[in-house]
Amino acid sequence: MDIRVTAGDITQSDADVVIVNLFEGVASPGGATGAMDRALDGAISKLIELGDLRGKSGEFVTIHTFGKIPAPRVVVAGLGKREDFDIDAVRNLAANVLRHVRKPGVSRVATIVHGAGIAGLDPAACAQAIAEGALLGTYRFERHKAKTNNNDEKAEISELTIVEHDQSKVAVMQEAVERGKALAAATNFARDLANEPSNHLTPTELAARATAMVNSAGGLEIEVLEREDMERKGMGSLLSVAKGSHQPPKLVRISYRGREGDGYDLAFVGKGITFDTGGISIKPAAGMEAMKADMTGAASVIAAMQAIAALKPKVNVVAVAPCTENMPGGGASKPGDVVTAMNGRTIEILNTDAEGRLVLADAICYAKELGAQHIVDVATLTGAVSIALGDVCYAVLTNNDELATKVERAAAAAGEKTWRLPMFKEYDELLKSDVADIKNVGTRGAGTIAGAKFLEPFAEGTPWVHLDIAGVDMSDKDKGWVTKGASGYSVRTLVNLALQWGA
Ligand code: BES
Ligand code: ZN
Ligand code: ZN
Repeated sequence: MDIRVTAGDITQSDADVVIVNLFEGVASPGGATGAMDRALDGAISKLIELGDLRGKSGEFVTIHTFGKIPAPRVVVAGLGKREDFDIDAVRNLAANVLRHVRKPGVSRVATIVHGAGIAGLDPAACAQAIAEGALLGTYRFERHKAKTNNNDEKAEISELTIVEHDQSKVAVMQEAVERGKALAAATNFARDLANEPSNHLTPTELAARATAMVNSAGGLEIEVLEREDMERKGMGSLLSVAKGSHQPPKLVRISYRGREGDGYDLAFVGKGITFDTGGISIKPAAGMEAMKADMTGAASVIAAMQAIAALKPKVNVVAVAPCTENMPGGGASKPGDVVTAMNGRTIEILNTDAEGRLVLADAICYAKELGAQHIVDVATLTGAVSIALGDVCYAVLTNNDELATKVERAAAAAGEKTWRLPMFKEYDELLKSDVADIKNVGTRGAGTIAGAKFLEPFAEGTPWVHLDIAGVDMSDKDKGWVTKGASGYSVRTLVNLALQWGA
C-alpha cells in the first residue's frame, strides 16, 4: 500500500472511497466533515438528524454520492466520545475502517486526519498512527492458499491518501508516515515468520529469512552460530533442547551500530522455538498447532532490527535469537537430566516443556559476552500469563525498575498494554534444586514469575527486562491493528525503545 500525505480539499478527491469522521453527540459537523456535508447537500447532517449516524466508536456509514463529488462513496467513521479518543484509537480506527471498505473495486482510499482537528492530537503522530493502522490492519497471511476465486479475499487497497488542509504540515506528516511504514513493515515481517508452519519455518529457514532481511535492509551485520559453535561456547542448556530434533539449531545474532564505540546499549533476546511439542514432557494434542508460533520472540527481535536499520537511531543494538525445535526424539532430554549453561550454572530439567527458559539462559549469557549493557528478552514463555492477563496485555518482569519503565513507555507509544509482575526474592524458593544450581520449573503457582526468576541469574546483575508475550502473540480475530493469527506484539515496543534511547 502506497501512503501519501497531500494538502488539499478532500471533497475534490477522486478516490474510490473518501473517509471522514464524526464524534459522538455532534449535531452539525465542522472541519473537513462539515465541508463534505455541504458538498453532499447536507446528507451527513440529515443522517445525524434521522439517527442513522451517531458518531459511535466502530460505526461506519456509507453514503453514495451519485456525482455530487468526484468520489463515488463517502464513509463517515464514528470516533466515539471525544474524551476517550487518543492516538491508539486513531491507529485502531485506521485498521478497522480500511478492513471495512476493502472489497473489489476499492483500491484508492482517501482519508482526513482523524484526531488532529477537534480532538487536538498532534497531526504528525496521527499520520504515523494512520499509516501503522492501515498497514497492520490490512495484513493477511495467504502464502499457502490457492489463488482464490473469492473476490473479497483478493481485494487489496493499493493507495491511501491522507488529506491535510494545512500545506505547512505535510512534510512533517509524511516523515511520520515513513516512520509508521517502517514500524508496520517490521511487524508484518514478524507476523509472516510466526504464521509460517513449522515444516516450512525450521530453525535453518528462520536463519535464512533473517539473513535475507539483513542483506536487503543494509546497515546490519548477521552471524549464525551452528551446533558446533554452541558446543564450543558451552551452551549446554540451549543444546539440551535441540537434542530431540533432527533439525539443527541456529543462534542468530544481528548487530546494528548507530553510535561510535564498542558494546551494545541494548540487547534484544528472543525465544525461537520453531515448534514446541513439549519434548518428553509432551503436550496434549488439542491445540498443539499453535506451538508453531513459539518463536514469536525470535521473530520480534529479528524484525525489530529491520525497522531499526531503516530509522537509524544513535544507539548500538544487538538481537540474539536462539532457534530450535523442541521434539521428543530419541536423543531428547529427559526429566531429571542436569545440564550446564554457558556461564557454568547447572540446571536440573524437571519438565522438558519449560524449554524456552533453557534456550534463553544461554542466549542471555551470549548477549552479555557480546557486551550488552541492557537486556530485553521477549518470549512466549508461559501458558500461565494468559491465565493471569488474558490477551489484553503482556507481562513485564525485571531486575531493574528504570529499564522496565523505559520499556513500558515504549510499549505505550506503540499502543501495546503491559502489566508488571513482582519479582520478590521469596519466589526464588520455587526454583531451588536438590541436585543442581537451579531447576527449570517451580512446584506450585506463579508460573510466569517462576519463568522470569529462572532467567534472572543469567543476567547476572545486568539491567534486564523479561516480556512474556504468550497471551498476546496470537489472535483468533481481527481487532483494530491486531489481525487474526500472529499479532506482532512487541516489535514496535522494541523499535520505540531503540528510538527513544537514541534520541
Ligand atoms: N511455549 C510454551 C508456553 C505457551 C503456552 C505459549 C501457550 C503460548 C501459548 C512453553 O514452552 C511452555 O510449555 N511452558 C510451560 C511451562 C511449565 C512446564 C512450567 C507451560 O506454560 O505450561
Ligand atoms: Zn514448552
Ligand atoms: Zn515453548
